[in-house]
Amino acid sequence: MFRSAAQRLRSVGKNGRLTRLVHTTRAQAKMSIRNATIIGFGAGAITSAYYLSQLQQQSPILLESPSVIGELTPEVVSKHNKRDDLWIVLNGKVYDLTDFLPNHPGGQKVLLKLAGKDASKIFNPIHPPDAIEKFLPPEKYLGPLKPPLSQIINLHDFETVARQILPPAALAYYSSAADDEVSLRENHNAYHRIFFNPKILVDVKEVDITTEFFGNKTSAPFYASATALAKLGHPDGELSIARGCGKEDIVQMISTLASCSFDEIADARVKDDQQQWFQLYVNSDRKLMEKQVKHAEERGMKGLFITVDAPSLGRREKDMKMKFDDDADVLEDSDDNIDRSQGASRALSSFIDPSLSWKDIGHIRSLTKMPIVIKGVQRKEDVLLAVDHGCQGVVLSNHGGRQLDFSRAPVEVLAEVMPELRAKGLDKNFEVYVDGGIRRGTDVLKALCLGAKGVGLGRVFLYANSAYGENGVRKACQLLKDELEMNMRLLGVTKIEDLKPELLDLRSLPNRTVAVAQDNLYSNNYQPMTSVEFKPEQD
Ligand code: HEM
Ligand SMILES: Cc1cc2nc3c(=O)[nH]c(=O)nc-3n(C[C@H](O)[C@H](O)[C@H](O)COP(=O)(O)O)c2cc1C
Repeated sequence: MFRSAAQRLRSVGKNGRLTRLVHTTRAQAKMSIRNATIIGFGAGAITSAYYLSQLQQQSPILLESPSVIGELTPEVVSKHNKRDDLWIVLNGKVYDLTDFLPNHPGGQKVLLKLAGKDASKIFNPIHPPDAIEKFLPPEKYLGPLKPPLSQIINLHDFETVARQILPPAALAYYSSAADDEVSLRENHNAYHRIFFNPKILVDVKEVDITTEFFGNKTSAPFYASATALAKLGHPDGELSIARGCGKEDIVQMISTLASCSFDEIADARVKDDQQQWFQLYVNSDRKLMEKQVKHAEERGMKGLFITVDAPSLGRREKDMKMKFDDDADVLEDSDDNIDRSQGASRALSSFIDPSLSWKDIGHIRSLTKMPIVIKGVQRKEDVLLAVDHGCQGVVLSNHGGRQLDFSRAPVEVLAEVMPELRAKGLDKNFEVYVDGGIRRGTDVLKALCLGAKGVGLGRVFLYANSAYGENGVRKACQLLKDELEMNMRLLGVTKIEDLKPELLDLRSLPNRTVAVAQDNLYSNNYQPMTSVEFKPEQD
């Protein structure tokens, strides 16, 4: 059924939830599982398509709301400025006051005057706090006002907006991390314990932030890391990430658990030489895994990143609290033993082979000429093993704090790894990447000074894509590039290869109790975990 944007917007109810839902039938859900089998890329794609369809069926807003609520920009609201189509913004929330107009105790004139605009300044002093609740039916709340992209000035802003517009289950899946989320926060905080020793009076008129990953030129030393289920946040899913990255010459790492099929994402490349990498979760079905690797190479992937930090998925409690129950009807075709009662993360990962070990790496190495990179390395001994096993690189990562809580911040591990590699003369032909907690150009510079070849960002791209699609992804890249270039200038460096450890003050890095200035933007976005609620058992 086709519905105009306005009709769709009108059906958004309290808390941004749709009140008139577009029902996805069970048959449709089953159909999409079957399609996934055809178009997908092995068990990962099947599982992620399956869960998307199941989430959508349980809560159709999951897939619809990102595009629906996402349209509430000031520009869109300003068009609803007539007697028969009257929207008004009050305290960051958009209301449809068309039907309320004739009943407004303060008269029609004032509402007509501010139609399509923000009326908070006039509204707040003359109305009791419960006026809206008392007089306006809940479905007249259309959703939060979304700032135009031009108002986004740093990467934190994407998260702030995404937190307002994402459906709760999607936000829980994206934002959650393991156990008490200590590593999640430490990943970011560790960067605050590194300070700079900038050079002065260097000619920094021309600054070049381009670099090479595995011999391929790229516009900046960062990439969009693999993240599952981008469609939970935006209907174009990984495709808009591909297009946004492509237009900015930034590498995209494609997840085994992407919500679009691998081929769709490869087809979304905006130019022939756009670089993509494939992230591999090694499937228990090794034949299938071999097919995936070969197909990735055929489709021009420039690197194979084997994720090794998830033999079983960490307990992500925010996600678990959003658990969705089995639906016997949808499950009738499925004879797997997946535990679907513990949130999207756990259910998604059940095909990953927990018996994967170093001896498998040699075999995977023999399957392809793509550079092989181990993603999820957390100690220097394992970096050396990766070298011994013929890998071309590692990503120092704890999966964005989503796996083993209290695993160390990757940047701290990086500071230990690089001196070791340099001492062994291994730092030239082996590429070390790092991800987790990166939000600023200065974070990227710190990692590069320590010796990283590049850095990955996960959630930032999910949030940018959820809030603004392809343009958001582009803006995220541009903001980070701008910060990088400006801060390189301030550091007295003009080329990436001149970023060296001497430019850093690392004295506080290993000391986790050091007091630094509070990072308000990060802390404002962080939602503390909640304690158990006392509510009756659901059947
Ligand atoms: C959610 C929408 C709104 C509701 C539920 C609402 C409700 C009310 C109510 C109950 C009153 C009577 C208050 C009283 O007599 O004590 C009132 C008066 C008034 N309202 Fe609203 N209102 C809404 C939106 C607005 C907006 C957007 C504006 C301004 C653009 C506005 C301007 C006024 C004015 C000027 C009065 C008259 C105050 C007076 O005579 O002292 N209202 N409104
Ligand atoms: C929602 C979400 C899904 C992820 N999915 C994958 C995945 O499918 N494969 C993978 O190797 N890493 C995955 N990661 C980890 C990221 O690739 C990356 O290591 C991490 O997000 C970096 O931390 P950051 O989010 O602070 O940038 C995921 C991370 C998030 C937040």
